[in-house]
Amino acid sequence: MLKTIIVSNRLPTKVLRADDSLTFQPSEGGLATGLGSIYRRGDNVWVGWPGLFVNDPAEEQYVTEQLQADSMAPVFLTEAEIRDYYEGFSNSTLWPTFHYFTQFATYEQSHWEAYVAVNEKFCQAVLAQSGPDDTIWIHDYQLLLLPEMLRRTRPEASIGFFLHIPFPSYELIRVLPWAAELLRGVLGADLIGFHTFGYMRHFLSAVSHTLGITAHNGQLEVGQRAVRVDAFPMGIDYERYAQAAASEAAQAHERTYREALRDTRVILSIDRLDYTKGIAQRLRAFELLLERYPEWREQVSLIMLVVPSRDQVAQYAALKEEIDELTGRINSRYRTISWNPIQYFYRSLPLEELASLYRLAEVALVTPMRDGMNLVAKEFIASKADQRGVLILSERAGAARELSDALIINPTDTSRLAEALHDALVMPEDEQRQRMAAMQALVERYNIFSWTKLFLNQLAYTKIKQQTLA
Ligand code: UDP
Ligand code: G6P
Repeated sequence: MLKTIIVSNRLPTKVLRADDSLTFQPSEGGLATGLGSIYRRGDNVWVGWPGLFVNDPAEEQYVTEQLQADSMAPVFLTEAEIRDYYEGFSNSTLWPTFHYFTQFATYEQSHWEAYVAVNEKFCQAVLAQSGPDDTIWIHDYQLLLLPEMLRRTRPEASIGFFLHIPFPSYELIRVLPWAAELLRGVLGADLIGFHTFGYMRHFLSAVSHTLGITAHNGQLEVGQRAVRVDAFPMGIDYERYAQAAASEAAQAHERTYREALRDTRVILSIDRLDYTKGIAQRLRAFELLLERYPEWREQVSLIMLVVPSRDQVAQYAALKEEIDELTGRINSRYRTISWNPIQYFYRSLPLEELASLYRLAEVALVTPMRDGMNLVAKEFIASKADQRGVLILSERAGAARELSDALIINPTDTSRLAEALHDALVMPEDEQRQRMAAMQALVERYNIFSWTKLFLNQLAYTKIKQQTLA
């Protein structure tokens, strides 16, 4: 039976070592949570890294068997590969560059070499898992070279590539010493997808300037092959979040929180710890709200969930300190015996608890400096059965292209952000419902299943067109 091989750096399950035993948990991050609902279909298999370093062959076999039983095939990385390929080239070169944080980017030849070697390792793993007629769907910036590597061995293969982060202006791409190799790597795919048309245009411009290949109607001629490029805004498993929010477990959690918070109104922020997410700016805006509008003191709290992420990378560790410091300062300045301005959690939570926070919150504050899409914004919307609640959304999140009924803000403008918070807290219920209903209709319709179908159909169509033209 023909199958689809999903390939990404991180598997949707991560393996953790605690007290000499291994536990298996869902991974965080939009890629894993988004595609987590579809990979188990048929004979599909997901190839990726299980998130921990293993050097005992027996343990490696145990992890492989456990994951295999759930349609996953692990690619194990050595400590040096994790350091140079994952923390190094992927998260200290590509991630900052693609999110317009070039001041944080490093350019190390040894990291590049590890990136090439690990992409090669993934190539071997995918070849081992797939037959010549299977569809291969590669995800994200950690594997930009993989499409071309696979193409060299399997010239006829059906290969799709989707980028989950922004694709920046050519002016940022040209800074990378390895820009041409990276772009050629992606062009090994038959279909290349982005969250927005803006990212797609940037990609086409970079390909044209760097490789001299110009697109016609979203199509590039790469040697003898026609490569299609398009925008596919990613959705969520709407029903899963709506049901989780409606579940008895989520309602029970909500009751417990509500009891502790009494009448305090809730603003919610949920992100991985990342400098792209604008967490510090958001804290400053909340502080400004309390300063400008003293009437909100003791009336409203910010519940801030920060999920630990990439803590071996220096910029992430520094950000953690900045957030700890800012939160401590704001809390010590304003708190009273019975009220805490910021309820700060540094951990990840299971779905029912996340859902209860989405239920509890009147305002969701999603203010990234740059974000490929941002699924938290969509999950908040899916959780609001009573259609009350306000989304404040950065214009620089991919989701802002679709969710125009949110309060759209510039995340750098702290003053305006404080005003948006005030506006959200006083917004009449009718207006909340109107905006929420419009956004729900959109998020429900353009969900993860329609997204997957659209991408895979388009890939199949691109293949058929290539064959009829050959
Ligand atoms: N998330 C999670 N556990 C948590 C907090 C968040 O699994 O404790 C999920 C959240 O539900 C969302 C994802 O992490 O699906 C974050 O995706 P998003 O697109 O917002 O940002 P990314 O982390 O991919 O940059
Ligand atoms: C973002 C990226 C994903 C990544 C996730 C979590 O969503 O687009 O590729 O998996 O963050 O980051 P991590 O480094 O922990 O895999």
